[in-house]
Amino acid sequence: MRVTIFGTGYVGLVTGTCLADVGHDVICVDIDAAKVDGLNNGIVPIYEPGLEPMVKANHAAGRLRFTTDAASAVGHGDVVFIAVGTPPDEDGSADLQYVLAVARTIGQHLERPVVVVDKSTVPVGTADKVTAAIAAELTKRGVEIAFDVASNPEFLKEGDAVNDCMRPDRIVIGASSQVAIDRLKRLYAPFNRSHERIVVMDVRSAELTKYAANAMLATKISFMNEMANIAERVGADIEMVRQGIGSDPRIGWHFIYPGAGYGGSCFPKDVQALARTAHHNGYDARLLGAVEAVNESQKGHLFDLMLQHYGGSVAGKTVAVWGLAFKPNTDDMREASSRRLLAQLWEAGATVRAYDPEASHEAQRVFGEREDLVLCDSAHAALADADALVVLTEWKQFRSPDFARIRQAVADSVIFDGRNLYHPDEVEAAGIAYYGIGRGR
Ligand code: UGA
Repeated sequence: MRVTIFGTGYVGLVTGTCLADVGHDVICVDIDAAKVDGLNNGIVPIYEPGLEPMVKANHAAGRLRFTTDAASAVGHGDVVFIAVGTPPDEDGSADLQYVLAVARTIGQHLERPVVVVDKSTVPVGTADKVTAAIAAELTKRGVEIAFDVASNPEFLKEGDAVNDCMRPDRIVIGASSQVAIDRLKRLYAPFNRSHERIVVMDVRSAELTKYAANAMLATKISFMNEMANIAERVGADIEMVRQGIGSDPRIGWHFIYPGAGYGGSCFPKDVQALARTAHHNGYDARLLGAVEAVNESQKGHLFDLMLQHYGGSVAGKTVAVWGLAFKPNTDDMREASSRRLLAQLWEAGATVRAYDPEASHEAQRVFGEREDLVLCDSAHAALADADALVVLTEWKQFRSPDFARIRQAVADSVIFDGRNLYHPDEVEAAGIAYYGIGRGR
């Protein structure tokens, strides 16, 4: 099947590559000429395990092409995906300007019936706006061409996106016409072999499904962070509590890890956007507000623990930070807890020596050159001249460090463990003071 995808960000690039990999003929469009040039030369602009060789192989096979030429790309697809960004605007609502710009482009160049699919995370009701935008352009041109607009949200996790795309646990299709349903079922047939994964529903339910999934996951995290804060105060260990509840299948083992707060390009933005949607529709989403508020304060929690340890001031301290990305296996720092902590440390007069296996380049871009930041080439290098160690991202290589070496290198012999990677007893046995999340015992 011929597929056109607008937007070569995480979602568009991964989706396009996976669709090409199962044999579809895919054209990805982006307005960023440098990015398109790079992709045509095998340069993948994001770090995503497994993606680069797949892009190269499918590009070489001619099934995956990249272009800035929107007009011819619209003509290519039997299915045209909109996978451009929906950043939050000032009040937290999703900003639809890029989605609607693509819709207008489609309307300006459409020559034959097509199924347009919203892949970006968009508020309930967006498919109607996309429909209206395309229809308005067709009217301007004085032509009548049949088209459908469907919603097909993605559930990709950064760091595991290729796997999620190739082996989805569900494929949600929100559509109102049989043409659209049949075409999307055919498109996804290669991913639907072993058992039925396709869930067909109306467009608005599909749009809401995406937000409900992310809001539920964010709620689990904020809930556990709240339990951790209670554990700290009552002298309990949240890691024991976690193990005590996870085996109940109604609760489950996933997404019950307390930490330094959730980040990334999705949870913070989607929780806010869903709350705004609720508000616009006359409902006060109190739970979502609380989920966000807990997360906001959680991002400042490690700094509070540091102030507590240092008696109110970290001025003049040099702090080693392991991990800057919002989670492991990505170089993405959007809404990462590290941004908050580093800002707090600098504000308080501390210097940071940071190491992240993938995000150094991104950190350089985000923070620029500054005297109070040294980006290091290894975890060990970050410890040199440091007074304290903070662990912010649970990269595998941080899981079992040589505590004796840390004890030697870190002048004040203290670890602030924002992901509960270590056992307090083991760290303390090495002569290092330990602070984790929710470890009050
Ligand atoms: C999330 C969802 O997991 C995907 O299903 C969804 O498709 C995607 O958003 C999206 O909307 O595009 P992602 O943002 O890549 O994926 O990251 P997650 O793996 O969900 O992690 C989000 C944040 O939660 C990270 O900062 C992570 O450290 C934190 N987290 C996660 C916790 O603090 N505790 C946990 O138990 C789990």
